[in-house]
Amino acid sequence: MQVVESIQEMQLLSQSWKTKGCSVGAVPTMGALHEGHMSLVDLCSQNADKLVVTIFVNPTQFAPGEDLDKYPRTFDRDKKLCEEAGVDAIFFPSVSEMYPGDSTSWVSEEILSQGFCGGSRPTHFRGVTTIVTKLYNAVLPDVAVFGEKDYQQLQVLRRITRDLNFPIQILPGPIFRESSGLAMSSRNRYLSEQERKDSLIIYKSLKEAASRVEENSDLKAIRQFLTDEISSVGGNVDYIETVNADSLEKIDVAQGSVRCLVAAHFGPARLLDNIQLL
Ligand code: PAJ
Repeated sequence: MQVVESIQEMQLLSQSWKTKGCSVGAVPTMGALHEGHMSLVDLCSQNADKLVVTIFVNPTQFAPGEDLDKYPRTFDRDKKLCEEAGVDAIFFPSVSEMYPGDSTSWVSEEILSQGFCGGSRPTHFRGVTTIVTKLYNAVLPDVAVFGEKDYQQLQVLRRITRDLNFPIQILPGPIFRESSGLAMSSRNRYLSEQERKDSLIIYKSLKEAASRVEENSDLKAIRQFLTDEISSVGGNVDYIETVNADSLEKIDVAQGSVRCLVAAHFGPARLLDNIQLL
């Protein structure tokens, strides 16, 4: 397994694979890899000949005051996990490699990135769409895998990939959970033992909500149920929304494909989860 730090070297490596007839798959990450990330690596390996995991804690998707400085960085462990998983290369650029000091260009998506996480983190998705575009241009993948855990991010990235004509197939990876039901996340390590227990209410109530919803159900009542459940154990709800699973338009009556998106703070951690309701 190679560790590649320069964009040009990454492009040359990917091109060399392609001239040999190999397809290239990318799994973009910010590192601190866990089984959720590794499930995406698995999915990618079933759909591409060569496998690149990118590890880059992207400063432009963090607002001032967010956890950029304390975001976990565990490269040696990440490298071992990638090696064991049969990854061909880790793309591990520095901040100055990805963002030379005089960078002034951005990629933004202007509809799906509004509201939800974009509401509480207004500059977040512009950072995500810019870095993913740059990672595409470095890795030159045929296939890219993103997790459903960050459901709005997945939809935003599908949209820029389509709108900007990247010849890249996006594969969504299902949410990988701890045995307790908590969706795995690099930020779960910010939780105390008590907060970790309390946060189990998120998936428990989402499952309960999914079992209650049928065609034409009142989704306002479902959202109220979730708010009450999560608040009852001290979770601080950022948003709970019921949306069309493709367009992310908010809906109040269950029809078509309905996704429920949740963001809630438990202590210092802002946790995301979601479920298909219909
Ligand atoms: P990160 O939070 O490291 O996540 C990398 C990828 O892993 C994302 O596609 C995310 O949705 C997926 N993922 C995280 N936890 C998961 C879980 N429990 N089950 C399934 N997939 C999971 O998301 C980012 O990094 C960044 O925004 C990035 C896209 C790399 C751009 O910087």
